[in-house]
Amino acid sequence: MNAPALAAVYEKVWRPTVFYLATGRTTDADRRFAVDSLQLHRTHRVLDIACGPGNFTHYLSAQVPADGYVTGIDFSPPMLARARADNAGPRAGYVRGDARYLPFADGTFDAVCCFGALYLIPDPLVAAREMVRVLAPGGRVAITTSHRPDNPIGQITRRAAAVSGLRMFDGQTFPDLFAAAGLVDIEQRVHRFFQYLTAMRPPTAAAGPDADGPAASGRGV
Ligand SMILES: C[S@@+](CC[C@H](N)C(=O)[O-])C[C@H]1O[C@@H](n2cnc3c(N)ncnc32)[C@H](O)[C@@H]1O
Repeated sequence: MNAPALAAVYEKVWRPTVFYLATGRTTDADRRFAVDSLQLHRTHRVLDIACGPGNFTHYLSAQVPADGYVTGIDFSPPMLARARADNAGPRAGYVRGDARYLPFADGTFDAVCCFGALYLIPDPLVAAREMVRVLAPGGRVAITTSHRPDNPIGQITRRAAAVSGLRMFDGQTFPDLFAAAGLVDIEQRVHRFFQYLTAMRPPTAAAGPDADGPAASGRGV
């Protein structure tokens, strides 16, 4: 994922092909999933973790309200170079960083997503907890990541993926992690070898007048 050649073809060729084989879904369908599950029409500060070349970041930035802002974070310089070249915009920006140690304060974002990356990250559960940490009360989280069925085929896919350094997750790990972190409205769908999860951090009394939804604050970070 750190090779300039892959970054150059990722958005137009690699992503549509590889993810269609793995999920049976198009990039457009995945973008609609992101918009709907994150409720972007009422979301102002969005974090796209492991944003790659910004292929979701820029699209999502067109769906947020006029004073909204979407921050993409990735640790690959070639991916970020492509993001800045191909997917810049008035409501989209990029920072370099590690999903396991997000450089943001607790509760900074109204929506946090991580698509197609947790199976690449060395400590995926640390990264998932970081997503929750930076999520504001009333905010929504969405992930897509690998999934292996609980049967012999799942064992085969797990071993095959491990050869190329990828993890295949079971269907419990992330729902359990989100539930343990206090998230609610946890929904999970499986598409071929991928799982799609959404959840919400409950509004708190301390959140004040915005307790029924994400806080409507400024342009993010
Ligand atoms: C397959 S791409 C996903 C890009 C985009 N989110 C999508 O769904 O098309 C995976 C991305 O994860 C990034 N990545 C892997 N480990 C990371 C980490 N620990 N912190 C931040 N980004 C990471 C890679 O650099 C790569 O850009």
